[in-house]
Amino acid sequence: MKGEKNKNPLPDTFLGCKMFFKQIQQHGDNFSYVVADEAAGEAVVIDSSFNASEIIKVLNIKKFRLKYVINTHGHSDHTAGNAELTAMFGAKIVAHKQSKVQFDIGVKDGDVLHVGKIPLKVIYTPGHTSDSICVLVDGKKLVTGDTLFVGECGRTDFQGGSSRSMFDSLFNKLMKLDDAVEVWPGHDYGARPYSTIGEERKTNYTLQSRSLKEFIDFMAEP
Ligand SMILES: [Fe+2]
Repeated sequence: MKGEKNKNPLPDTFLGCKMFFKQIQQHGDNFSYVVADEAAGEAVVIDSSFNASEIIKVLNIKKFRLKYVINTHGHSDHTAGNAELTAMFGAKIVAHKQSKVQFDIGVKDGDVLHVGKIPLKVIYTPGHTSDSICVLVDGKKLVTGDTLFVGECGRTDFQGGSSRSMFDSLFNKLMKLDDAVEVWPGHDYGARPYSTIGEERKTNYTLQSRSLKEFIDFMAEP
């Protein structure tokens, strides 16, 4: 329809500035992420995990102020470095509003936080846990926690897990994203440390076409 295009808001993207984005894996297979607006000198950490000392090193070298520590969910292997980072930098802890993590800011699906001018959109993706979120950085990089891995999806057999919710999170939320969106997982479980939505759609066996019932049965297989 004529003029229709102008009615749609532009995607919430970060134009014309330099983004710092670093995946950190220091101890074990947990990944942490440092995202910063270089011009503003402001950073966030997504999942502190067991990587606090390396994260601190990066923040100090780059002279970034740490604004938030965002937790993709409350499992302790993802939150292990929270206390050290908040004690050192006074950052606010962010988690889903249903999380048992001791947070300063509780978020819900669709909320957008900012680091400098970079938008960080919260996508609520329960399934692995009831407090799981993914964070879409600048509309281009999806930090997936334990919801989606390279070649895998998260387990649903822990407390608070639900295969029914995981199905909805994967197929009705993450698989609705563009193929070009990058996937940055919470663990180094795949053949490579990151991927794209398009690549996972094509190759990830957990994302094969299944009905809800088939998916629930599939997740229950040993
Ligand atoms: Fe987890």
